[in-house]
Amino acid sequence: MIVPTLTFVASANAVALSGGRPVFADSIGPDDLSIDPADVERRITPATRGVMCVHYAGYPCQMDALLDLCDRHGLFLIEDAAHAPGASWDGRALGTIGDAGCFSFFGNKNMSTGEGGMVLARDPQVRDQVRLLRSHGMTWDRYRGHASAYDVVRLGFNYRPSELTAALGRPQLAKLPANNERRNALIERYRARFDEAGLPVRMPFRGQIGSGHLAVLIVDRAQDRDPLRDALGGAGIQTSLHYPPVHLFDHYRTAYGHATGDLPVAEDLALRIITLPLYPTMTPEQVDAVCDTVAAYFEGAP
Ligand SMILES: Cc1ncc(COP(=O)(O)O)c(C=O)c1O
Repeated sequence: MIVPTLTFVASANAVALSGGRPVFADSIGPDDLSIDPADVERRITPATRGVMCVHYAGYPCQMDALLDLCDRHGLFLIEDAAHAPGASWDGRALGTIGDAGCFSFFGNKNMSTGEGGMVLARDPQVRDQVRLLRSHGMTWDRYRGHASAYDVVRLGFNYRPSELTAALGRPQLAKLPANNERRNALIERYRARFDEAGLPVRMPFRGQIGSGHLAVLIVDRAQDRDPLRDALGGAGIQTSLHYPPVHLFDHYRTAYGHATGDLPVAEDLALRIITLPLYPTMTPEQVDAVCDTVAAYFEGAP
């Protein structure tokens, strides 16, 4: 199964834990960090069963090309829509376009229940299997009455959301559209401020509307990345990185023989990205303070 390397490790772990082999594909480039359909196509072999695309930062992947190549090669398409609740492509909600879509409701996501997630699947047989897997492979749905008798038809897990997390999720879902709009507006403010300042940085996905999950900044020169993060940290501004490429994690190097240089575009991007603060209640003044700190770093940069 082909997965991007520039993603959270869960995308690849899910493939490996299901008995598949994650085959990593590269990113398109600094204006679109998502999986490169041309690289996916190059990696298809007779053993390939499907493709997982990750809507990085909540922006749609190149769905035309991915749907077309999956169709031509008879592959299934899974959308990792963990970043993308509420975003759409061509009028269709992300996570509903491929054969299956997966969402995360972890605490740092646009729509959170604290922990948990959701799977959508087009094929009713797949949905039935997901229902079995989420609750120990039992034919009995534990949230519906008491079973006097039930069978266990396969091995399964405890992946059930609880009533408590559902209670958290309902108001979160109601807030999602307004929060996504706010996030997009804040990203556009960042972008406008960086454009105006003419700094050696860029923000990807220009002109696109997504869920506004992440405000990602890419510095032109990799040597500026860590000192800029330090300067922001020194001003009390927390940043993060999305992501270290999965194929270079120790487990993936060892299990699949990966090495630096295997996926050069993603590796280069991973050295130049910084995820800036972004949350729906962030104020425009706070965005300006981050931009001012970035500008001050470059004024003094060697
Ligand atoms: C792209 C991506 N895929 C998958 C996941 C996994 O989600 P969870 O931790 O809820 O299983 C996350 C987030 O944690 C993610 O960012």
